[in-house]
Amino acid sequence: WTQLVFGEGNHEAEFVFVGEAPGETEDQTGRPFVGPAGDKLTGMIRAMGLERGAVYIANVLKARPPGNRTPLAPEVERCGPYLLAQLAIIRPKVIVTLGGPATKLLLGSELGITRLRGIPARVTLGVAEGAPFEVPVMPTFHPAYLLRNYTVETRGQVWSDLQKALELAGRPIPPRAS
Ligand code: URA
Repeated sequence: WTQLVFGEGNHEAEFVFVGEAPGETEDQTGRPFVGPAGDKLTGMIRAMGLERGAVYIANVLKARPPGNRTPLAPEVERCGPYLLAQLAIIRPKVIVTLGGPATKLLLGSELGITRLRGIPARVTLGVAEGAPFEVPVMPTFHPAYLLRNYTVETRGQVWSDLQKALELAGRPIPPRAS
């Protein structure tokens, strides 16, 4: 990898989207989700009636794994605390985890994304006023998976998950664009 890709967006965002790790374009530009999967994520955000600049986008890993392979456990262990610190600073209304590694880290679950998606969960981001500070998490498929499996079923599942994320934040649900 050539540079860190820390994350970008609104530090007071209501929604944080968490991916897996920077890919090649992200490594070149220093920005998360700017390749083909990034275009899809931007479309998902817009379908929710939001602008990309209004949300915050980050990854579990802050540096590109060789050949875009799946993050290894020691890498997640080293980078994970930075993600949790980012989330604790932003304190969003909802965290949308994109794919397996982000969902596994925040939910601490060994189940696969196919089992976990669409089911609202919660993550504790420290303590506020003496009580644990919890934020809802909505797991969904990674946009790269969606691009590889661009079926009526998968698109419907992702849209359903995004609607639930909007509901959790108390936001209106726009009509489905496509
Ligand atoms: N780009 C990212 O920043 N993260 C991913 O998980 C995939 C592509």
